[in-house]
Parts: sequence; structure tokens; C-alpha cells
Amino acid sequence: MSTATNTASTIESVLVENRVFPPDERASKGARISSMAAYEALRKEAETDPDGFWAKRAREKLVWTKPFTRVLDESNAPFYRWFDDGELNASANCLDRHIGTPAENKTAIIFEADDGSVTQISYKDLLTRVSQFANALKQEGIGKGDRVIIYMPMTIEGVIAMQACARIGATHSVVFGGFSAKALQERIIDAGAVAVITANYQLRGGKELPLKSIVDEGIALGGCESIKTVLVYERTLGNWNRVEGRDKTFTEVLEGQNTHCEPTPVGAEHPLFILYTSGSTGKPKGVQHSTGGYLLWARMTMEWTFDIRPEDVFWCTADIGWITGHTYVAYGPLAAGATQVIFEGIPTYPNAGRFWQMIERHKVSVFYTAPTAIRSLIKAADSDEKVHPKNWNLSSLRILGSVGEPINPEAWVWYHKNVGGEKCPIVDTFWQTENGGHLITPLPGATPLVPGSCTLPLPGIAAAIVDETGKDIPNGSGGMLVVKRPWPSMIRTIWNDPERFKKAYFPAEMGGTIYLAGDGAVRDAKTGYFRITGRIDDVLNVSGHRMGTMEIESALVAKTDMVAEAAVVGRPDELTGEAICAFVVLKRPRPTGDEAKAIAKELRDWVAKEIGPIAKPKDIRFGDNLPKTRSGKIMRRLLRSIAKGEAITQDTSTLENPAILEQLAQAN
Ligand code: WTA
Repeated sequence: MSTATNTASTIESVLVENRVFPPDERASKGARISSMAAYEALRKEAETDPDGFWAKRAREKLVWTKPFTRVLDESNAPFYRWFDDGELNASANCLDRHIGTPAENKTAIIFEADDGSVTQISYKDLLTRVSQFANALKQEGIGKGDRVIIYMPMTIEGVIAMQACARIGATHSVVFGGFSAKALQERIIDAGAVAVITANYQLRGGKELPLKSIVDEGIALGGCESIKTVLVYERTLGNWNRVEGRDKTFTEVLEGQNTHCEPTPVGAEHPLFILYTSGSTGKPKGVQHSTGGYLLWARMTMEWTFDIRPEDVFWCTADIGWITGHTYVAYGPLAAGATQVIFEGIPTYPNAGRFWQMIERHKVSVFYTAPTAIRSLIKAADSDEKVHPKNWNLSSLRILGSVGEPINPEAWVWYHKNVGGEKCPIVDTFWQTENGGHLITPLPGATPLVPGSCTLPLPGIAAAIVDETGKDIPNGSGGMLVVKRPWPSMIRTIWNDPERFKKAYFPAEMGGTIYLAGDGAVRDAKTGYFRITGRIDDVLNVSGHRMGTMEIESALVAKTDMVAEAAVVGRPDELTGEAICAFVVLKRPRPTGDEAKAIAKELRDWVAKEIGPIAKPKDIRFGDNLPKTRSGKIMRRLLRSIAKGEAITQDTSTLENPAILEQLAQAN
């Protein structure tokens, strides 16, 4: 494993921002955690009696059909179990729980479509629609323990599909609508899914993009015999091809369905979902989450991090295809009984003022988005005054959030000033697919903010920075981020691969029970605040999307008629955080000029087909060879320097073919 220092750092900021921003009174007044003393007290309580701390909250915040008597079971570590003799249902906790309370007629979702039209749905009506869809799933023979792939656009129907699976105890696996047929097929096979829920088309930025035909293509690639049903939501009037006996529309299966569906109780450890994410090898990992612990964390973090209140309008811009869209769209806001906005489109259509216009229109009070989006909107506002946030009334905002990648201080300060009017705390939330919800984040009513720092761990999160052997590293020096104690919403296993789970997250060198995040971090010598320095493994973060370098390499070398060898690294990018840079050796002589351009395009399109457009390399450089040691190992750290355009200062004496560096540095 490499160390934090030789990874491509994504924070290459020119602005050093040392100002401290104390919480604004509007955020701290009446907040659940309204001072650092209150935070400290909670942290201490969780540390002194973790079982008592979590048991109390699990009883208070969740409805159990069978109460649990055990809290944390560590007997088979690192396969930790939480509340495992208790039973509950996630959908009942998100919907039924509000019936008969003042929230019953409250708006659950304000949906704004790509074209700007708006639909609202109350908690009561959402429950009816989820129940009917759950009954339809049952009628299709889908039940507890079955895996269902959801390949849907950002719509109310996407959330209904997830909630309906949860209601009948089926484990969903949402695949982001930007993934390819091949990526979809791999996930169907790995999950052993019995059904796919999809839409005929998705609407984004005024364009109608096919989804159903990609499902057909994926299944046709083979090995998907487990799929018995494909359910199609007709989002548009567009034509699609029906496979008789397998495909049905939403309208057909919903016809005459009962509006009541008794939620199926499941054990707290029952897998609520599997979500595939990139790791250090070519094969994506099926991150398995529980029902009880996961939902508890979704609810708690809505309260702690967003200090969610009954009158809030919450808007998380993440797609349901990512973990942020699971925890902070499909489950957290509903478990907390909040009103939330769901947006189908993209931030730049019809223009880059769309987010600001929507905040004004729906009076959004808590807004949660990714640094990449902010950076692209800064750029747009700089070049066109008409899309600058100052053109809209954003005074409804109370709290701003950031997620998915480090937020550079320039973007932070702009977001704070121009969107938050210098009144809204920014919660820079650090967490991962594997964590279920926030790990390290400011609390809006308590934590003094430092731009570029995710500040301090939530109560109960034993975050630390250690060296390769698990030994603590003093504040002020960089090391590997770990969590030393289990927490309720942590990953339970990798679907179908418990050995990989142990190896990837609980390294034996550290004792086998400490969670290794895969990120480098450093704590401030004075405040103890955490700053994330970037991944220490072969995972890139492009526009807040996780991509494995090996995954892209595997895709490239799968083009066997052309590619002999490929190595992929990241380099810092102003807009996307990191950019994908591929070094390729072809089976033919090294191309130059127009030929190189044409082949690069062909390879980019190939990667888009193998994985999805988000995995397309930005740079492709061709060489006669790659820099290798005498034993044949590719020297990636040299490639990282070349990708960045840096002079090579590292020792190259172990290199078999030093001349190759010059060639690659010049190739473009
Ligand atoms: C990065 C997204 C710095 C980090 C929720 C992590 C961050 C990876 C932050 C997980 C942040 C996420 N500051 N880096 N606030 N949030 N990351 O699984 O490298 O898609 O390991 O989960 O994103 O990405 P994932």
C-alpha cells in the first residue's frame, strides 16, 4: 500500500484559508446540538457506554415490531451485528410511522421534472403508492430476500421502487442510470437478481435517454437467467421494445392493486440493499447494508448534521444511484418526516441558474450538494452574470452541505458568501458508501468552521489517524484514516465475497478489527480538526464519483484487438477534482497526430460502453512501453507525475527503460 503523500492530492488550492467561521445564531438557536459543550457531552456519553448510547436511540428513533435485547455483537468480528434479535421494517419506519401524526398530510416530496413541471406528494399518498407497488412486486412472485435491480431516473417512482422493495423485505441494488449495459449485466449476475425495475427513458437536460434498451442489451450479454421480470415505468411517450412474458409496465402491474400492504418484518441485520462501488481491483464491490443500524444512522444524521426541523425543506441533489441518494433522498428525509425536493434534471439546464432558481421556488432551507457542482456553477456565474446566485432570493436557506470529495477553500468561501449570504454554516460531510451515513462533519449549530476541513467525528465515531501497523500518528502529521470501533450503519460485508471484505477494510496488520477507510488524513495540531488528503488506494474521485483505476485498466485491455497494456492514474483537475489519465501501449506502432486522436476517441467510447461515460479518460497518452521496474512492475508514481506535468524528481535508477518517461511526457 502506498502512503498518503504519494497519492494525487485533490486539494491543490492556491488559497490558504485560515479564517474560522463560528456558527451563525440562526443555526445555533434552538439547534439539537447548540454548543461544543453539548457535542462533547454526547461524544463522551457514546464513548463511555456505547451500547447504552445506541440502544437508547434505536428504541427512541425507530419502530420495532420485535424489540431487540442485544445491541452490538462482536463475537464474529469484523462481521459486526447490531440489534440483531430485533425486527422492523424500513418502509414502515419511513412512512407508516407518520400516519396519525401531524406529518400525515405533510408534503413528503416536491418533485421538479427536467422541464420544470412540479408534482407534490404527501406522506399519506406516498404510503398508498408504495403499498400498491409493493403488492405488485409480490404478485410478480418477488419476496423477502430476493434481489431486485433498480435502474431508474431521479423520479418519485425511483424512491417508490426502493421503498416498495424494503416493504416486502426484498434487497434492492440501485444501478446509476449512467452505467453501461455491461456494468448492469455484471451487477445483475453478482447480485443474482430476480427482477429489474427501470424506465423506458430518462429525461436529463432536455434530452430523452434510453434506459430500457440498455437493460435489454445488458441481459442479452448473457448469464442473467435469474431475471424473471422487467418492470417498466413509462416516463415518456417514447417507444420501447417489449419482451413478451418478461416485461410489464407499471400501469399494467399496478392495475387494481390494494392500497394496503402489510410491511414484512425483517431482522435488523437483514440486507436492506447492496450498492456496488469501486475498489482497488477491477471488480466493483457489492457493499451490503443492514436494515436496523443503517436506518438508525440515516435518521440520526438528519437530526445531527442537518438539524432537520418540521418546517424545513430539504434538498439533496444526489442521484439515487449513489449512496448519498440512498441515505439522504430515499431513506433519511422520510425517516425524519421531512419535506424534500427531488430533481430529475441537471444543474446547467436550461441554464446554470437552475439550482438557485429551484431554491427560491421551493423555499429550500437545507441544501446538500457536491463541490464539483459548486465549482462548475462558479465558473458559469463568472462568465455570465445572469446565472449568478445573486439574481435569486435565497433567504430561505439555513444550512448548506457538501459531500463526495474535498471542497477546496475557494469553492467553500464562494458557496458561503454567494449562496449562504454568509449566514449559513456549511457542513462538509466526510463519509463513504461503506459508512452508510456521515462520519466526520461539522454540526451546524455548534462547530466553528474551517474551510476545507470536515472538522470532527460524530458522537460514537472513533475516527483516528494511524500508520501501517495501526499505531496512532500525532496530530499535525498525515496518515491513514481509520475508525477504531464499530458503528451501527457500517458495511456488513461485500456481497458474495466476505474474504475481500476482511482484506479490504480490516487489515490483519492493524489487528483485523479496525475499519480502514482508504483515505489519507491529517489532524490539525491545535484543534484536532480532520482534513482529508485523498485516497491512499487505487481509487479516483472524479466529480465526486468513485472510479477504480483497475476497473478502467481492465476495460481498456478488454479491447483485445488494439490494446496491449494500459495504466490509469489520476491527476488534479480544477473542475472535476481529479481527472482520469490513461497510458496505453497499443498492439500496433505508437500512433501520433490525427491517428492518435482518432484512436483515443475510439478508446474513450469503448470505456463508456464497458463502464459508463463517467469512466471516460480525459487524457490518453500512447507509449511504446510503460515505465517498469526490472521485475516488471509498472511505476505508477512516475505516471502520476507525468500526468500532472511535473518534472520527474523521483529516483528512476530501478527503471528498466528510463527513456520511456521522456516519450510519455511529450505524448498527448
Ligand atoms: C471522498 C460518497 C473529502 C473520500 C459519500 C471517500 C470526501 C470517497 C468527502 C467516498 C469530504 C467523500 N471530503 N473527501 N467531505 N466525502 N469524500 O463511496 O475519498 O462515493 O473515500 O461516498 O469520497 O466516495 P463514495
